[in-house]
Amino acid sequence: MGPSTPAAARARVAFLLLAVVFLLAVPWPGAAAQAGYRVVSVARAGGQLSAGLELAGDGEKAELGPDVQRLSLTARQIFTVLPPGGRLETSSRLHVRITDADHPRWEVPQDVIPREAPRNVVLGASTGASPRSRVLSAATSDLTFTLHASPFRFTVSRRSTGDVLFDTAPSLDFKDRYLELTTALPAGRASLYGLGEHTKRTFRLQRNDTFTLWNADIAASNVDLNLYGSHPFYLDVRSAAPGAAGAGAGAAHGVLLLNSNGMDIEYGGSYLTYKVIGGVLDFYFFAGPAPLDVVDQYTQLIGRPAPMPYWSFGFHQCRYGYKNLADLEGVVAGYAKARIPLEVMWTDIDYMDAFKDFTLDPVNFPAGPMRQFVDRLHRNGQKYVVILDPGISVNETYGTFVRGMQQDVFLKRNGTNYLGKVWPGYVYFPDFLNPRAAKFWAQEVALFRRTLPVDGLWIDMNEISNFVDPPPLNALDDPPYRINNSGVRRPINNKTVPASTVHYGGVREYDAHNLYGFLEARATHGALLADTGRRPFVLSRSTFVGSGRYTAHWTGDNAATWDDLRYSINTMLSFGLFGIPMVGADICGFGGDTTEELCSRWIQLGAFYPFSRDHSAIGTVRRELYLWESVARSARKALGLRYRLLPYIYTLMHEAHTTGAPMARPLFFSYPKDVNTYGVDRQFLLGRGVLVSPVLEPGATTVDAYFPGGRWFSLFDYSLAAASATGTRVTLPAPADTVNVHVAGGNILPLQRPALTTSRARQTVFHLVVALGEDGSAAGELFLDDGESPEMAGPRGQWTLVRFSCKAEPGGATVRSHVVHDSYGPSRKLVVGKVVFLGLRSPAPPRGFAVYVNGVKAGNSTGRAQGFRGSGAVGAAQVEGLSLAVS
Ligand code: NOJ
Repeated sequence: MGPSTPAAARARVAFLLLAVVFLLAVPWPGAAAQAGYRVVSVARAGGQLSAGLELAGDGEKAELGPDVQRLSLTARQIFTVLPPGGRLETSSRLHVRITDADHPRWEVPQDVIPREAPRNVVLGASTGASPRSRVLSAATSDLTFTLHASPFRFTVSRRSTGDVLFDTAPSLDFKDRYLELTTALPAGRASLYGLGEHTKRTFRLQRNDTFTLWNADIAASNVDLNLYGSHPFYLDVRSAAPGAAGAGAGAAHGVLLLNSNGMDIEYGGSYLTYKVIGGVLDFYFFAGPAPLDVVDQYTQLIGRPAPMPYWSFGFHQCRYGYKNLADLEGVVAGYAKARIPLEVMWTDIDYMDAFKDFTLDPVNFPAGPMRQFVDRLHRNGQKYVVILDPGISVNETYGTFVRGMQQDVFLKRNGTNYLGKVWPGYVYFPDFLNPRAAKFWAQEVALFRRTLPVDGLWIDMNEISNFVDPPPLNALDDPPYRINNSGVRRPINNKTVPASTVHYGGVREYDAHNLYGFLEARATHGALLADTGRRPFVLSRSTFVGSGRYTAHWTGDNAATWDDLRYSINTMLSFGLFGIPMVGADICGFGGDTTEELCSRWIQLGAFYPFSRDHSAIGTVRRELYLWESVARSARKALGLRYRLLPYIYTLMHEAHTTGAPMARPLFFSYPKDVNTYGVDRQFLLGRGVLVSPVLEPGATTVDAYFPGGRWFSLFDYSLAAASATGTRVTLPAPADTVNVHVAGGNILPLQRPALTTSRARQTVFHLVVALGEDGSAAGELFLDDGESPEMAGPRGQWTLVRFSCKAEPGGATVRSHVVHDSYGPSRKLVVGKVVFLGLRSPAPPRGFAVYVNGVKAGNSTGRAQGFRGSGAVGAAQVEGLSLAVS
C-alpha cells in the first residue's frame, strides 16, 4: 500500500520532543471531594512525561470490583517526518496512556494498530519539584498537556487559541473490569461527530445520548443501539467562544480512545463519560485544526483507507433470496434491457450448498453453469461478488471443515472448539488472531476461486453473530458493569460468541470481541491479494478502528423506510470519519417492502454513496431498479451523473488513500467557519465541492437546501442555483426523477461520458467542468491508473496525477494543466475534448479560451466557443472540438 503501510507510518514517526513547564491549574469545582487518584511522582525521559498515580481515599463503586492501587501515566507528543525531504512536521498528535503500574493489561495488539510503544520509564523517583501541575508542550505543537496533581486530572488545550479541548474530572475509576473517565466539554460550542457504529437520527451527536460499543448483529433499522462495529473516535468542531470575535471558530480536533473492550460513552452536552469494561485508557488527540487535518492525522495512526478497484465504483445489485442461476441471469438481462448501468452482480448465502462457505448449491447454482455465467459477466466488463460467513459447518464430509480441524484453527472454550449455531446449523468459528486461520482462509478462498473466479468477497455475520445464547461459564461472561448492549443491558454473551471463549495466545474473547470483523477483513483482503495479485475488494459488516485498511462497509440491515433513507447519510458520514470512506447503505432498503417512490428517491441518493448497492431481504418485494419505469428513469439519470463523475470519484479515492479524506463529507469539512453547516445532515459533499441534496420525504417535489457561501451550479443543467457571501437557503425543484447535485465555484471536475459499465465509460473522451469562483479562479485534479493494481500511487506503481487550474479574465479564460506524476502509460493518450466554463462574468459571449499544458500553450486547443448562456453577470459557455493532450 505504498507510503501508507503501517511500516511506513512507523518510519515517519521519528521525533519525540517534550518540554515541561509549570502551570497553575484551576481544578474542577469540588475536585478534592471526588478525588480518585493523586500524582505521587513525575519523571521525564526521552521526550516523554511519566507520572505515578496512587489511589486517593478508599475508592468508589465497590460493587464493580476493587480499585487498582497504583497507576502509571505517560504523555507524549508525536512528531512526524514527512518523506521525501524529511521535513519535520508540526506535532499533530498527543498520546496519553493510563494503565495499572504493577500488572500488564490487555491492549489493542500492535499488529492491529501499529504504534510506538511508550518508553518504560522507571517511576517512583520524584523530580524534586512538588508534583502539583505540569504542562507538556513543544515549540511546534498546537496541543498542550497539563497534569494536575492532587487530585489527579489532566487537560489538553489548543495553544494557539487557549481553547481547552479535553478536561478530565478527578473522579477517575480504574478497576480490573471497569474504567471510568469523564471530560468536560464547552456545551454549546462543541459539535461532536463519530462514536459508532450506531444508526442516529442526526449526524451531529445529541446530548443525553449513550453510545454503546459492542459489536452485535442488531439490525441497523434500530436507532441508538450498538451495531456491527466499534469506533471510539470523535471529531469535535468548535464554534467561537463568546466574546472571542470569531477567533478559533471552526477549529476541529479528534479524540480516539484506543480500546477494544465493551464500553458505554455518555454524552451529556457539557461532558463525556467513558465507562469501559477492560483494557487501558489509551487516548490519542489529533490537533487538526481543519477537519481534513484531523482525519489525515487520525488515519496516519490507524492506517490509510485501502484503495478500492475502479470497478467497485460502478453500481452493484444484490438480494438475499435469489433462487437460482436463472434468477441471476434474469437480473443481469433486466438491467441491460433497461439501459441502467450494472457493474457487479452479487449473490447472498443462497448460492451455497446448505449454507456451507466455499460450496455451490449443486441444483440451483451448479458449478459448471455458474462458471460460464461469471465468464460471461467478465467478457461484458462486469464483476461477480459472493458472501461468506465466518461459521464453518461442523460436518465430517465437508472439506473446509476437515481442513480447519486438521490445521486447528477454531476458537476454543473450556478446552474444546466452541460450538456456535448460524445458517448451516452447528459451526466452529475460525480464530483470526491465529496466524494459521488466516492461512487456512486464504487456502479456502484460493480453492473456491478455482471453481468460481469471484472478483470480491462480502463478509457478513462477523460480530460474531451466533444464534444460540451460551450460558455463562465464568465471571467474564457476565462482568460487574453491564454495558447497554442492545439498549436493554443485555448480557454481552447474548447472540454472540461467549466472552469466556479463548483465542490464540490465550487472548480472551472478552477483550478481543470487537476485533473479529477487523481480523476477518484483514485475512480476506490478504487471501484475495495472494490469489489474484490484484487490488482486493472486501465488504465487511463488522469493523473496528483501522478496518479501512482492508475493507469497505455497508450500513447493515436497514429497513425500506423514509427514516432509514435519511439516516443512511449520518452513518455514511460517520464512516468517513472512521477511515472507511467506501461506504453505502442498502439502496431501496433491506427489510420490509419498499415502494416505487421510496426506491426512486433512494437510488437518487444512493447513486452518490461511495459504495452504491441495491440489496434486499428474502421474502420482501423485489427492488431491482428496472422493475418500475419511474425508478428506472431516476436510476438512469442519477447513475448517469455518477458514471460521468467516475474520474472525479476515483480521484477522491486517491485522496482518501493518501490523506484519509472521506469521499462523502459533511459540509463543514469544506466550510468549517460556517456554523450553519455543523448541523446539516440532509445534504453532503462528494469531495470538496460537489453537493448532493436528495429528497428524503414522501410526496415532496422540492428540497430545501443549504448552500454555503460562494456560487453553486447545477451539474445537470449548469444553471446557477445559489450565490451568496455567507451561505443561503434555497428551495430547489425536485420533480420525481430528479436529484439535485451542484458544484461549488472554485472547482474543476474531470468527467467522462456515461456508459453501462465503468470499463466502457473509461474509454470515452474526458471533459472538464470549470466552475469559477467569485475571484474567477478554479482548481481540481485527476488521478489515473489501471484501477486494479494492488498499490495506488505507490512508489513502484504506474499512475498519473494532473492538476488543473483556471483563471478567467474579461472576455476569456485560461486553463492550465500541470502533470504532477506521470508513470501510467495510457494517460499519455488522455485527451480533453471539451471544457465547460461555469460562472463567466461577461454578459457577452467570451472571445477566446487558452489552454496550457505544463506551461506550454497547447497548439491544438482552439476549440469553438459555443454560445454563452445565462443571465445577468454569470453564465456558462463551452469549448468543444478540443483535442487536448494533458500529459
Ligand atoms: C445479514 C446481512 O446483513 C444481510 O445483508 C444478508 O442478506 C443476510 N445476513 C443473509 O446473508
